[in-house]
Amino acid sequence: MNILVLGSGGREHAISLKISQSSKVSKLFVAPGNAGTSQIATNIDVGVNDFEAIKQLVLKENIDLVVVGPEDPLVNGVHDFFLNDDELKSISVIGPEKAAAELEGSKEFAKEFMMRHNIPTAAYQSFTGETLENGFAFLETLNPPYVLKADGLAAGKGVLILQDLQEAKDELKSMLLDSKFGNASATVVIEEFLDGIELSCFVLTDGTNYRILPTAKDYKRIGEGDTGLNTGGMGAISPVPFADKAFMDKIERQIVKPTVEGLKKDNLPYIGFIFIGLIKVGEEPRVIEYNVRMGDPETEVVIPRLKSDLVEVLLAMANGTLDQVDLEIDDRAATTVMAVSGGYPEAYEKGKEITGAESIQDSIVFHAGTKVSDGKVVTNGGRVIAITSFGKDYKEALKTSYQSMEKLHFDGMYFRKDLGFDL
Ligand code: AMP
Ligand code: GLY
Repeated sequence: MNILVLGSGGREHAISLKISQSSKVSKLFVAPGNAGTSQIATNIDVGVNDFEAIKQLVLKENIDLVVVGPEDPLVNGVHDFFLNDDELKSISVIGPEKAAAELEGSKEFAKEFMMRHNIPTAAYQSFTGETLENGFAFLETLNPPYVLKADGLAAGKGVLILQDLQEAKDELKSMLLDSKFGNASATVVIEEFLDGIELSCFVLTDGTNYRILPTAKDYKRIGEGDTGLNTGGMGAISPVPFADKAFMDKIERQIVKPTVEGLKKDNLPYIGFIFIGLIKVGEEPRVIEYNVRMGDPETEVVIPRLKSDLVEVLLAMANGTLDQVDLEIDDRAATTVMAVSGGYPEAYEKGKEITGAESIQDSIVFHAGTKVSDGKVVTNGGRVIAITSFGKDYKEALKTSYQSMEKLHFDGMYFRKDLGFDL
């Protein structure tokens, strides 16, 4: 069969590599892809939100299955676009329909969903410009730190955590009245601060059945010791050492099961990946967010640990037969370390030549922001290359990732050397 993956990051390279290893795939396309995907698939220069161009591509190349990497096209309704088009409706799309993608598209929607289905999460209230004064009053009832979340998609930047009450009020005002995050902050969710350690749980569902993928933990801050600005993710490890069986059973019983059942009860059609961001508070899991896609860089550690044929798994999701699939998981730990452009996550330059990747033997090199220019592989984004390794535990795997990292070079390259420091 012919498969199209939408996206251009390390996540899409990792998904594409696993798909390319399946005997079920004839032709694999990635749109728009990066220098890494061009080595294992055909890149097509079409944007993930250009649905008309995607349609032409799907028809021209006889695509049977589309795997949507990032959240944007899902929140914009790419799955619904296929279902509403006579020429496309028989093609399988992995990713929830628009109504269900609101779990990521709107924090308020996600909170209401969790309340409705008794899924443990932080207490909250939401506010708009008209109810700003009520927002101030609610902040006064809380203890610091204060957590303010723009309701809509804000490229991972829409969450503020503030120590000072006055600062929290000022930021709330600027989000609601001065469009600090554009339209995304027209509604703001204020929630209770949860004190604990974070991890992510990844779930596959066909809308009725589900399977739980390995857990992962990512490192979001640019600086060592989790300091400095938030990034898309500087590295990840899987499995998460503190997520033992008892804790995973709690996650499944209190969160995964009611989430999948809730989607069904609420008529929210969901064939795809559910990424559940969690905080472990004491011994209890609490949801901090849903994402309607895989994480990046978490995919670069989760998918390499999947031994099952990914295409068979994706087809079972599309066909509603996930109950007949048993996931086979590699027992080893996997880690990934992200090399980023100097200056990221603020301004950075692109177009720097990347060398040394071919000499890395002991790790998997996943491309993120890279492209081929004049026959050379050059940087094309903030997060550039993720180096994934296996080991008997995360420490051993990390050692290999760091050894491989020494072989990679580009101007201004930076990576965190302290992953796992908090475990
Ligand atoms: P989100 O975009 O919702 O994942 O939030 C971004 C980051 O803010 C999370 O990864 C957490 O580190 C932090 N965060 C979000 N909500 C809370 C909360 N209620 N309590 C503590 N930290 C939070
Ligand atoms: N690594 C966090 C995310 O993909 O949202």
